[in-house]
Amino acid sequence: MSIQTKNETWLILGASSSLARAFAAEVAGQGHDVILAGRDQDDMAATATDLTARFDIKATPTAFDAMRMEQHPTFAAAIDAMAAGTLNIFLVFAQMPEQDDIDADPTLVVPTVTATYSGAVSVLHCLAPLLEQRQAGHVVIVGSVAGDRGRIKNYVYGSAKAGLHAYAQGLRARLFKSGIGVTTVKPGFLDTAMTWDAEGMFLVSSPQAAAADINKAVTKGKDVIYTPRFWWVIMTIIKHIPEAIMKKLAF
Ligand SMILES: NC(=O)c1ccc[n+]([C@@H]2O[C@H](COP(=O)([O-])OP(=O)(O)OC[C@H]3O[C@@H](n4cnc5c(N)ncnc54)[C@H](OP(=O)(O)O)[C@@H]3O)[C@@H](O)[C@H]2O)c1
Repeated sequence: MSIQTKNETWLILGASSSLARAFAAEVAGQGHDVILAGRDQDDMAATATDLTARFDIKATPTAFDAMRMEQHPTFAAAIDAMAAGTLNIFLVFAQMPEQDDIDADPTLVVPTVTATYSGAVSVLHCLAPLLEQRQAGHVVIVGSVAGDRGRIKNYVYGSAKAGLHAYAQGLRARLFKSGIGVTTVKPGFLDTAMTWDAEGMFLVSSPQAAAADINKAVTKGKDVIYTPRFWWVIMTIIKHIPEAIMKKLAF
């Protein structure tokens, strides 16, 4: 299921991230149109110009804010009007302040959880009926290995990603009935703006490599992937650490 054909449209939610730009280039390279949705209009306009010039596809920037949930129904209606044929969705936005910063300023909890979880669920719930009406499409939801186990260094953001993973499981079961695939992506550490000043990074991968992995997973109709794949092994070990030990660890 969910094998891509030419001339589809990919809606990229959070289009100013480097993973988004890399994935947009992957699908544009296959001849698909893209709608670049996000907050940074200059960044998205530059990406649109670049993709149009390189791949001769239609790239349309559009304003989207995950936190403005009251606008999501109108946003979904605008996307419905904009996207002809098969509509695919790549949901990539999130916010990850350092855990120490959140602990020092608990008002950071709500934007972190809202941008990473509630905003994602809100917009996906507005867009899901469009895919069901079209009886086609594919949804990619970018989660994180951080959602696999709560850790002292990252548990507010991690809990939002854990919720997103659970939502993706339910959405997958719902959209399966309409022949639509949902791929949950769990990246390990990526070399992006989100992690530029983060401490304790190891086995860091490029957004371009992750985007290629994700595109391959979409073509194969995968339900869940880790990128790079070895993170499945790492997280399987981490998930099995007993709580009595986990609570004493500093990572
Ligand atoms: N980097 C890693 O090591 C890593 C690891 C695992 C998973 N991930 C996941 O990979 C995805 C891409 O992250 P990244 O590393 O490329 O980080 P990033 O550059 O910080 O990208 C985050 C994106 O989310 C957007 N965003 C934040 N709040 C938003 C809002 N309210 N409305 C709309 N867009 C909003 C940002 O847009 P603005 O430009 O407007 O701020 C930005 O484009 C995220 O889902 C992240 O959780 C990353």
